[in-house]
Amino acid sequence: MLARLRGRDIELKTAGELEAMRASGALVARTLAAVVELAKPGVSTGELDALAEQTIRDGGAVPSFLGYHGYPASICASVNEQIVHGIPSPAQVLRDGDLVSVDCGAILDGWHGDSAVTILVGAVSEADRRLSAACEAALHAGIAAVLPGGRLSDISHAVQSACVAAGERDGVEYGIVAEYGGHGIGTSMHMDPFLPNHGEPGHGPRLRVGMALAVEPMLTAGDPETRELEDGWTVVTADGGRAVHWEHSVAVTEDGPRILTLPAD
Ligand code: MF3
Ligand code: CO
Repeated sequence: MLARLRGRDIELKTAGELEAMRASGALVARTLAAVVELAKPGVSTGELDALAEQTIRDGGAVPSFLGYHGYPASICASVNEQIVHGIPSPAQVLRDGDLVSVDCGAILDGWHGDSAVTILVGAVSEADRRLSAACEAALHAGIAAVLPGGRLSDISHAVQSACVAAGERDGVEYGIVAEYGGHGIGTSMHMDPFLPNHGEPGHGPRLRVGMALAVEPMLTAGDPETRELEDGWTVVTADGGRAVHWEHSVAVTEDGPRILTLPAD
């Protein structure tokens, strides 16, 4: 989401409410798994959207993106130089070597789940494969910092450090998109606090049991500067380089991070 939340009142969930969020998250995971299965060269992002909407509704939930500030679809499908909020379309047909980031959200019994994956379509370049792997690793580094007693910016710092480490390993400098980031989640999709993907550790609200956060790094192969297209939604890299996006909704528990948007156990 766009960097604009301020971090004052963070919703705390009871154990029972987190179970309800887990159910919502599992449905989002099932939906993304179905989309990943369908995403092949020759398939349009419009078809991915239709499958996602059907899967969410079959699960007894409502797609949270559809109608959100007027957004016209159930997923975001951001191809290649598109970073986030790409609008799916029957005209956007996936081709061999494409990178498509699919972001999906559902509301089940009033509770939100939000998760994104980057799909490697067909035979992608080694550089793109590494870019996506770096972002996924950064996501999991951030998740590992979702600890009771920790501070919000510990997550930001863990994400950033993992990006830098991956870049050093790959011999490139990945860009971290700064204008967008993670967010609190629960009875709404976007709640306080905003969660940047970079920063020094030890700042921001203290993490407490019952908080839930969407952790969502966005990485670019080149410069992380962004531009919004005339459709009012699609965010692309200003330099036209490729971008990736991985996201999970995660709860703070006594036992550490609990990823809510994994498939049902
Ligand atoms: N998961 C996206 C985010 O946190 C939300 C997309 S809302 C939509 O930024 F309306 F753009 F779909
Ligand atoms: Co999100």
